[in-house]
Amino acid sequence: MKVPFLDLKAPYHELKTEMDAAYQRVMESGWFIHGEEVQAFEDEFAAYCGAKHCIGVGNGLDALHLILRAWKIGEGDEVIVPANTFIATWLAVSYAGAKPVPVEPDPQTYNLDPAKLEAAITTKTRAIMPVHLYGQPADMDPILTVAEEHGLQVIEDAAQAQGARYKGRLSGTLGHAAGFSFYPGKNLGALGDAGAIVTNDDDLADRVRMYGNYGSKIKYYHDVKGYNSRLDELQAAFLRVKLPHLDEWNRRRQQIASFYLQNLSDLPGLTLPHVPDWASPVWHIFTVLSSERDRLQEYLKEKGVGTLIHYPVPPHQAKAYQEFGFSKGAFPISEHSAATELSLPMGPHMDSDDAGYVVNMIREYRSEV
Ligand SMILES: Cc1ncc(COP(=O)(O)O)c(C=O)c1O
Repeated sequence: MKVPFLDLKAPYHELKTEMDAAYQRVMESGWFIHGEEVQAFEDEFAAYCGAKHCIGVGNGLDALHLILRAWKIGEGDEVIVPANTFIATWLAVSYAGAKPVPVEPDPQTYNLDPAKLEAAITTKTRAIMPVHLYGQPADMDPILTVAEEHGLQVIEDAAQAQGARYKGRLSGTLGHAAGFSFYPGKNLGALGDAGAIVTNDDDLADRVRMYGNYGSKIKYYHDVKGYNSRLDELQAAFLRVKLPHLDEWNRRRQQIASFYLQNLSDLPGLTLPHVPDWASPVWHIFTVLSSERDRLQEYLKEKGVGTLIHYPVPPHQAKAYQEFGFSKGAFPISEHSAATELSLPMGPHMDSDDAGYVVNMIREYRSEV
């Protein structure tokens, strides 16, 4: 038996008729950038999140970068980011010319630890960028309190968290603005790169739209040195087909996660995700921590179970950020996660046999070592 880490063909097979019709619709329209599909998707995703504005952009990294640009956060400024995240969170800050200032996660949830924020705030700090890592919402209320006390913006990196809820509220509406990614493997994934900014701030919405479209509000009249980062009609049309299925797909992920949690929790040497009672995660990624991670991964591979590591090198140890000179042990919780984390197969199109097989193979590994 084989269980891939994620099956990207399955959503197409489920929605083939609608996806093919979306493709035909765009082809026949002869209109590919900034048209009716993008407008409709922006309205539909804003309504889904319960936000005033959604602005489609080229990808999730651009979404975060454009928010910073629009708020004029740049040279000489600092932005607090999690030490353990995908590097895009940091890169968005670097692109803007500001400095990412890492903060360790809570050792239970692996999300930004609000108790560690104060120590990282300086006179240069302009914003906090919590990440809803793996589809688990960060503890936003205390983060917002600290931000308010210091007059900081809170930008949610919601790339992995479409549909995740914090105390009943949807991710993307918890801070002052949010960046989403619709990379194909995301819970709501396009068929190429795509992203969006979600906010209730009218002025920000106006400005990010301008920044993502060559700095112009009126074609060929350029107010600022902008960028080219636009969601295209084809991706918007595909996303519109998938959006109505997001909640049902997230529920399926939640069922698989519950099954893993129930059937792996008694195994020694394996740390499973902790879900605080205020969180409704959408399980973009289901993690286990094991000191024997590499052996376990190899064993599962031999048994036909696909796994990945999110992420083997935390940004502060990446070559790309050598300039900061962080030594080994600078962020021990993040480094521990990088050394022990393994992501199990997870997706809305897995069936209970797939999940059962993954559990059996992990249990078999334990009984053999
Ligand atoms: C936490 C996080 N932030 C930002 C991004 C960037 O998104 P994109 O790949 O669409 O640029 C990703 C993408 O994987 C991500 O996981």
